[in-house]
Amino acid sequence: MKKLVILSGAGISAESGISTFRDAGGLWDKYPVMQVASIEGYEADPELVINFYNERRKQLLDVKPNQGHMLCAELEKYFDVTVVTQNVDNLHERAGSHNIIHLHGELTKVCSSYNPNNPKYIKELRPEEFEVKMGDKAGDGSQLRPFIVWFGEDVPRIADAAYEAEKADIFVIIGTSMNVYPAAGLLNYVPYNSDIYLIDPKDVHIETDRKITHIKKGASEGMKELMRMIAGV
Ligand code: OAD
Repeated sequence: MKKLVILSGAGISAESGISTFRDAGGLWDKYPVMQVASIEGYEADPELVINFYNERRKQLLDVKPNQGHMLCAELEKYFDVTVVTQNVDNLHERAGSHNIIHLHGELTKVCSSYNPNNPKYIKELRPEEFEVKMGDKAGDGSQLRPFIVWFGEDVPRIADAAYEAEKADIFVIIGTSMNVYPAAGLLNYVPYNSDIYLIDPKDVHIETDRKITHIKKGASEGMKELMRMIAGV
């Protein structure tokens, strides 16, 4: 089976009702990004940041995967698929994808403030436990914090993602403005003779000399078109 790697971003979840970050009216228009998504912001006001992610986590109860996510899962019938996502929602999982690398963490998990990547202290929350409170403690006694990779922090799963990108016969970029590194740099690992597709209703500026086939549509329609092109269905 050919290897297919998907790099997804906020745009794939837009049709499920989750706001993107950089589109007009996106999350970073409403909240100062460095306040709610940086390690400095967390250290300055942990309660504000914890509450911001409580809201995002609560929203997961009201949204469901859209056809874009579903078709990513369906591609597993035809290809050996790995989804590398910058999204912290769980919509790829809920749509049935099996191999998912979350580069920027997961809303459904919490971790230690001292050592966010120590697996001993990473805990999966049940849906009804969406609310983390000040004073809730991780196993090492530190404040429990969202398991999210903030600006200023390492991206521990980038090596796993690069390893997958290196094996890709087909690389699909969907719903990301390709503004955030190291995620956007994954394209550089894709072999030179592989096919690269971009699904996005808007033009995306991508720093590369590679040939990219742009399917200029939203996630659901774009994934349908991709299925026709690469799987003939
Ligand atoms: P952005 O908000 O930067 O980009 C969203 C992209 O989705 C844009 O290119 C849109 O044109 C596209 N888009 C909008 N609607 C779409 C639809 N219906 N179907 C397909 N595409 C659509 O989001 P990301 O690139 O994911 O990190 O942002 C990357 C990272 O920046 C995020 O993971 C987050 C953020 O800061 C952290 O918070 C650590």
